Amino acid sequence: MPSSIDNYLTGQSAVMADLKHMVEMVAPTASTVLVLGETGTGKEMVSRAIHHSSGRNGDLISVNCAAIPSELLESELFGHEKGAFTGAEKPRQGRFEMANGGTLFLDEIGDMPLSLQSKLLRALEDRTIQRVGGGKDIEVDFRLVCATHQNLKSKVDEGSFRADLYYRINVFPVQLPTLAERKVDLPVLIKAIMDHMKAHGDLPHFQFDEEAVAEMMRYSWPGNVRELRNVLERAQVLFPGKTINATEVRENLLRMKAPKKEQEADFLWQATADLGDPLSAGGDALDKPALPHPSDYRDWFAYFDDIDLRRHLQDIEVILIEAALEKHEGMVSRAADTLKLRRTTLIEKMRKYVIEKPAAMPDD
Ligand SMILES: Nc1ncnc2c1ncn2[C@@H]1O[C@H](COP(=O)(O)OP(=O)(O)OP(=O)(O)O)[C@@H](O)[C@H]1O
Ligand SMILES: [Mg+2]
Repeated sequence: MPSSIDNYLTGQSAVMADLKHMVEMVAPTASTVLVLGETGTGKEMVSRAIHHSSGRNGDLISVNCAAIPSELLESELFGHEKGAFTGAEKPRQGRFEMANGGTLFLDEIGDMPLSLQSKLLRALEDRTIQRVGGGKDIEVDFRLVCATHQNLKSKVDEGSFRADLYYRINVFPVQLPTLAERKVDLPVLIKAIMDHMKAHGDLPHFQFDEEAVAEMMRYSWPGNVRELRNVLERAQVLFPGKTINATEVRENLLRMKAPKKEQEADFLWQATADLGDPLSAGGDALDKPALPHPSDYRDWFAYFDDIDLRRHLQDIEVILIEAALEKHEGMVSRAADTLKLRRTTLIEKMRKYVIEKPAAMPDD
């Protein structure tokens, strides 16, 4: 029977086993925990695991300090009395009071405005708070868990985070591994996330063949478990009821091209034909189609609401690398020269983006 911590933190790697052990030890104590880790590594999951294994009867109350505008954060945390400010028509409990008997989770604590940090410090030291516009001390019994993806120590050094608060919350730091550091957990994570999707009615279900899983093992997962989850949700949309292979993982799931179904390919051709063919739309038919110029992007937002800049630039990089490799029939050093990159840099990029040399080419 898996312990309840296993329900929150999936993974059997050595780093995850250590992490779960730490969580198990600290959860039932009153210690303040500081959860550290890159985006999408599961910091919020750790806060839930700690709360549910703490034996505390109250609720887990979460506050994302980065998501609430700083002028509202004070009353959100500490509550307010009637008439404390314009619009405060009724008295209101803050999150500290709601967490009485339970756990208060301050997510993205690194974004806590300096002006609020001293008030927070006082609350942590005295275990009492005052509502905004109220003079009365209110006792609260809360267990604090904080999380951040930032380096708090350097925020202290540059003066944007109070040193005394830093030492007050850095009692029991828990560092989450990146997904790249625990790729052996991929199969169990995939299973856990898919089971969760099934339980929520996403059917018919897809599966991965062996090579597809191997392909995912080679990827670097900069967005960690959240990115994996997004990829699995994308798989459910693009390949319901299918067995997904390595090429589909590479081209449709990790790189977001539309799947190459006959039908959809035809549709795409029709759609692009309507946009006008640069070869036939006037001008000299022998002219090559013009390559896009960077300034063409100026009009982007006239057509689209947003752009995933990192992924877009990455897609361009991948296409140019593949084209250079093709031009030089897979000779990496010549492709690197063409791209004005060092050979080792190109190899690194090929590894990162899982680009293979054109088939049956000799090593150079
Ligand atoms: N060990 C895990 N097992 C299963 N799912 C997980 C695990 N860790 C994270 N997840 C899932 O990955 C996603 C991201 O997790 P979470 O929100 O806890 O990350 P985070 O570190 O708080 O990210 P951010 O810094 O972006 O807020 C969630 O959907 C969560 O359910
Ligand atoms: Mg989070």
